Amino acid sequence: MGKYFYITTPIYYPSGKPHMGHAYSSIIADIFARFKRLEGFNVLFLTGTDEHGLKIQREAEKNKKKPKIFCDDLSKNFRDLTKILNLSNDDFIRTTESRHYKSVNEIWKRLIDSGDIYLDKYKGWYSVSDEAYYDEDEIESSNGKKYSKTSGSQVDWVEEESYFFKLSAWTKKLLKFYEENQDFILPKSRKNEVINFVKKGLTDLSVSRTSFTWGIPVPNNSKHVIYVWLDALTNYLSAINFPNTKDLKYKNFWPADVHIIGKDILRFHAIYWPAFLLAAKLPVPKRVFGHGWILSDDKKMSKSLGNILDPIEIIKSYGVDQLRYYLIKEVSLGNDGTISMENLKNCINNDLANNYGNLCQRVFSFIKKNCSNKIPKSTLMSDEDSELINKLKDNVPNLITLINNQNLNDFIKEIISYSFDANKYFNDSEPWSVKKKDPKRMENILFTVCEQIKNISILLHPIIPISTKKVLNSMNIKTEKISIEQINKLDCFDHDSELKNFEILFNKVENDN
Ligand code: MSP
Repeated sequence: MGKYFYITTPIYYPSGKPHMGHAYSSIIADIFARFKRLEGFNVLFLTGTDEHGLKIQREAEKNKKKPKIFCDDLSKNFRDLTKILNLSNDDFIRTTESRHYKSVNEIWKRLIDSGDIYLDKYKGWYSVSDEAYYDEDEIESSNGKKYSKTSGSQVDWVEEESYFFKLSAWTKKLLKFYEENQDFILPKSRKNEVINFVKKGLTDLSVSRTSFTWGIPVPNNSKHVIYVWLDALTNYLSAINFPNTKDLKYKNFWPADVHIIGKDILRFHAIYWPAFLLAAKLPVPKRVFGHGWILSDDKKMSKSLGNILDPIEIIKSYGVDQLRYYLIKEVSLGNDGTISMENLKNCINNDLANNYGNLCQRVFSFIKKNCSNKIPKSTLMSDEDSELINKLKDNVPNLITLINNQNLNDFIKEIISYSFDANKYFNDSEPWSVKKKDPKRMENILFTVCEQIKNISILLHPIIPISTKKVLNSMNIKTEKISIEQINKLDCFDHDSELKNFEILFNKVENDN
């Protein structure tokens, strides 16, 4: 039996330009996907676009385009973003694809068959911007208009015939499910929010609309289109060939290991989605991880505040690994976090250029000058040498646990501290001063520090894949073949080949402050 791991990002509304929030969800998922591959898992990493609903229909109308044509153009921006962010996604799904229609139709049929859907009339508040229904106690008035208290987006009164999903009947079963699956919602703080909400008692959910047409028609009643969230959530099944539950992709990858999402869409993933799946008699994903918001200068990014940080612009100026590293290092994964250009520049200079980049640069230049540009063999390792290597090696199980608990911040801190230690070791052992009187000692020092550079680079590879590839390739190690196991194998170097040419990894950036 192979080991399988299925991870997803939210599927993005393609109506606007991709922004830092989208980039953030995707980068997080990419890091986990890459790490699990290093661990030897057969990974399926899915992302895509969420293309139905009134919000998209209105945007298309504004642009005087048919919704499908409008989405064809805009979805491309998100597909391009996967390349710009250097994502390793295995698939990109669009909810306008026929494979997705099949899957949504089957879910609908299962919910009808189980008696969980009935026809009635919806009366209540709806936010087009969030594509969400809100209860009276979840909205507030300002200047004669009504807004959602949580998202701040405007809500309108809606009255129309609608199919309902009997969500109320799932209240107790969901609470039992959360009780039995303690790690289904992470981080813990978010789990408590969800549980408290469910404990208040759930009301039935309107799952179809009649006042617009841009969506998947309800089978046998095409006056209705299926509610965009029921449609969108099902994408996670469409990509693994559901409804063909005998298909190997479905069998190997369902239930998904983790849905990475932002905290604003937790209710849909942690309440509606498991309820739909339980009602459809399908297994529920193992985990939903709700990350926090990225704030710019302590405020939510918005056009009116003029504080939007555009990931594409930042990548053009500083590089993609730099942005990936910065977002993961500086923003605590479960909480909101502020980012700023000043911090980005400090992070590039301190962690990447002065620490990891400098380590590789100094060691490789020294080897070039003093060892015919070949990594020397080790003959006798001193206690300090073994201590440096073993400290990291012995911690690998713990590092894997950090990743499995989505504790990326501690993971990255540990790795960068190894890089700091390796720099210190290189300084303190002074290979330049033993070069003449004890060349063997010099070789052992260089071997040890190369071993450490290799191990650090493997562990940093999921986060900064381009830079670590350069480092490993210059050591004649192919990144396609690297694995966590290689950390335990001492000396997998080719001592007969020269180091490949190595350019500066991270340019330092000017910081005005
Ligand atoms: N289409 C739905 C998701 C359907 S998944 C079945 C959607 N799309 S979205 O484009 O509006 O947002 C996608 C993701 O971007 C969400 O996870 C959201 O949390 C994230 N972000 C949007 N702005 C953000 C920040 N400023 N910071 C961090 N992430 C935020 O919702």
